[in-house]
Amino acid sequence: MHYPYQITSYEQYKAQYAESIANPEGFWANVAEHFTWQKKWDRVLEWNFEEPKVEWFGGGKINVTENCLDRHLATQPDVPAIIWEPNDPELHHRVLTYRELHHKVMQFSNVLKNNGVQKGDRICIYMGMIPELVIAVLACARIGAVHSVVFGGFSAQSIADRIQDAGAVMVITCDGAYRGNKTVPLKETIDDAMIGCPTVKRIIVVTHTRTPVSMIKGRDLWWEDEIKKVETHGNPYVAPEPMDAEDLLFILYTSGSTGKPKGVVHTTAGYLIWANYTFVNVFQYRPGQVHFCTADIGWITGHTYIVYGPLSAGATSLMFEGVPTWPDAGRFWDIVDKFKVNILYTAPTAIRSLMAFGQTPLMGKSLTSLEVLGTVGEPINEEAWHWYDEHIGKQKCPIVDTWWQTETSGTLISNLAGVTPSKPSFATLPMPGVLPALVDENGQEIEGNGTSGNLVIKQPWPGILRTTYGNHERMRQTYFSAYPQLYFTGDGCHRDENGFYRITGRVDDVLNVSGHRIGTAEVENAINMHSGVIESAVVGFPHDIKGQGIYAFVIFQGFHDDENLTRGDLLATVSRMIGPIAKPDKIQFVNGLPKTRSGKIMRRILRKIAEGELTSLGDTSTLLDPLVVDEIKEGRL
Ligand code: WTA
Repeated sequence: MHYPYQITSYEQYKAQYAESIANPEGFWANVAEHFTWQKKWDRVLEWNFEEPKVEWFGGGKINVTENCLDRHLATQPDVPAIIWEPNDPELHHRVLTYRELHHKVMQFSNVLKNNGVQKGDRICIYMGMIPELVIAVLACARIGAVHSVVFGGFSAQSIADRIQDAGAVMVITCDGAYRGNKTVPLKETIDDAMIGCPTVKRIIVVTHTRTPVSMIKGRDLWWEDEIKKVETHGNPYVAPEPMDAEDLLFILYTSGSTGKPKGVVHTTAGYLIWANYTFVNVFQYRPGQVHFCTADIGWITGHTYIVYGPLSAGATSLMFEGVPTWPDAGRFWDIVDKFKVNILYTAPTAIRSLMAFGQTPLMGKSLTSLEVLGTVGEPINEEAWHWYDEHIGKQKCPIVDTWWQTETSGTLISNLAGVTPSKPSFATLPMPGVLPALVDENGQEIEGNGTSGNLVIKQPWPGILRTTYGNHERMRQTYFSAYPQLYFTGDGCHRDENGFYRITGRVDDVLNVSGHRIGTAEVENAINMHSGVIESAVVGFPHDIKGQGIYAFVIFQGFHDDENLTRGDLLATVSRMIGPIAKPDKIQFVNGLPKTRSGKIMRRILRKIAEGELTSLGDTSTLLDPLVVDEIKEGRL
């Protein structure tokens, strides 16, 4: 069976693509017909990229959970919606059918209502990868609360920043989370974050690791107790809140080149349709298949391709609590065999790290259930692509290389599995509705094939971000000011002779470390918090496994007698301010940084030094003190 809007041949792709660009309104109205609306839209699209303003399906009323749950409850109640594999392979997995998931979302929707949550309230979710995370997210959407999921690896300070920015009234968390052989104390981190968060009135805590936690009267509640209360009242049905198409669905914070992370806002109808349409088309999902996206729901990939895309398509979505290398580097392959996974979607960094373990972890694994493979989050190098193809896909599974961003909410450029051509390390062709272009430094469009430039998008697609929370001007400046009338992605891009796109990496000050987005300015701010730091500059460098590593140049005063101890202190400071994911791989102490006469740090030079390109530093004559460069070169780590 196919979805009515599923593209099944290359010819059809070309025709659909052409139509989507010539007549976007008609095209997306046709797709939107296949969703459950409480009231149909009045206008398909209104937009301009100056303000910027984008509105899809204006005047329509729709609830995402009705599309993810209720409509499947009617037709396929016993199909597994979520399969959950725990961190510990000795423990039992869980399966939630659409009926069960619906029931649990009703329960927790009642809990939210009992605790005074209203439509439009913001709720921070800080949890490990357990089914209650999906239930919490969907319950918010059910009653029209706006979720802001924060990745479980972020520090108390980062959580507090996000809670304050969103003005969240509630936090949903766990006592702790398991990751490999570690237990992460989530509630404790939330307690630390609470010191600066007066807007939070309630914290709901799921029991998972049985880590002892403090529970404050009047503020902290156990998830299980709240569910019991609901059950004693018969768990009444909660009607899907009628949401305007453009009402907020969620906020997700992400890093940019300047300042604090910004709250990317996605709204209801456009996001739902984009998540569903790209899921069904990119992976060529067929009902009955098991889809395994290895991302964390704390990132956009998990939002769109574990939760909303698959569930709105009535798919079976596998979520995994643990890490790929525990108890050993065969864990993904065990999971694939155990649940007969058909679609595996992971990050190049995971592929490279598993590749490094050689063939042993693959011994005895059949992997014959696999039909489609995917990658996301960073450029995939050819070597990793071929390893994935040969050793995992056994050269019979198409690989989709999906390029997209938190801001785009779903895939913008990718081949469609087995339907359109693939090319190693190329994302290839745009999705219907997506009109990419390359521009040069001056914003001039670069036409023709066999060329490179900065990647921009010329028209809105249903899933484009609508604003940055609480600061619309920031959205305009970040994405729509570099090139007037164009959405600027921040990525560099090559277009080959056939018009296939290859994303080459960020051209702004955003790093991509193991597929995680980190702003260099954010890391610098964290390092500069250390009392002995005078100044610092952070750049990326190529890293075999992580894709990019973090290299920090630091001017420091007041050493311990031990440089490594100071390094340790700086790492602890970064962990405390942002989280362990932002810890620099290398810290070089320097006496000065290369600056122009106007005081600007010349990052280009530092980047080259970090990359080990010591002979081609370019023109250094405009530097205030060219000698610092020699010193930095000599001290390179
Ligand atoms: C990078 C993750 C090359 C890119 C979904 C983008 C990619 C940033 C690819 C967004 C890909 C994502 N090939 N690069 N297939 N996918 N990127 O917001 O630099 O966490 O701008 O969203 O990841 O990261 P984000």
